[in-house]
Amino acid sequence: MQRPLQRFFQDRQLARQAQDPMAAVCVLATVDGAGRPQARTLVLRDLPEGLAIYLNASSPKWQQSQDRVAIQTWWPSVQIQYRMQARCQELPAEHIAESWQLRPDVPKRMDWLYQQHPQGSVVSDRKELLQRLQDAPAPQPLVAPTGARGLLLIPDEVERLDLNQDNGIHDRQRYELRGEHWQVQTLIP
Ligand SMILES: Cc1cc2nc3c(=O)[nH]c(=O)nc-3n(C[C@H](O)[C@H](O)[C@H](O)COP(=O)(O)O)c2cc1C
Repeated sequence: MQRPLQRFFQDRQLARQAQDPMAAVCVLATVDGAGRPQARTLVLRDLPEGLAIYLNASSPKWQQSQDRVAIQTWWPSVQIQYRMQARCQELPAEHIAESWQLRPDVPKRMDWLYQQHPQGSVVSDRKELLQRLQDAPAPQPLVAPTGARGLLLIPDEVERLDLNQDNGIHDRQRYELRGEHWQVQTLIP
């Protein structure tokens, strides 16, 4: 059996070749402290170790992602959806220090702003935001602040839904990790 992440990477490669803008991102779903579901779009990175997301520790989603998360992708170009349940493992600070340098300038400065003003906190208006961003301290040379973090996602359940079927009947398969081995089941779509 093909391992589900190999399949994911192959499908994602096809979506990238088709210039699908959704190929770069996922929807990250968490549960907040009040038990409410929360979802947002994040860039989904491929590392040699697997899938990873980058986020700031000042955001509530950081605490919500310490144990388990769900992610979802949908690539219209190839008509394939993935849903995954994953354990999270924090990426080492050395990795963040290096990869953070590749970020564009504005996200870098935003990460420094979050050191004083958490992501998602309220400002009176956009003008105040721009002023705070301008005033935010940033060392020279610019290095990653402590709040810049990343998580390796370690899936243990992967569901693939392929809409691209000649007879119109979607193909839905669920892979579950049992010990060392993946088991696959076909589900009614
Ligand atoms: C295409 C796209 C990519 C995004 N990538 C990221 C990302 O990699 N990391 C991130 O923290 N937020 C990213 N965001 C912003 C998040 O969706 C979200 O608005 C922000 O992180 C605040 O979420 P929170 O309220 O859960 O903290 C992205 C948004 C879009 C539309």
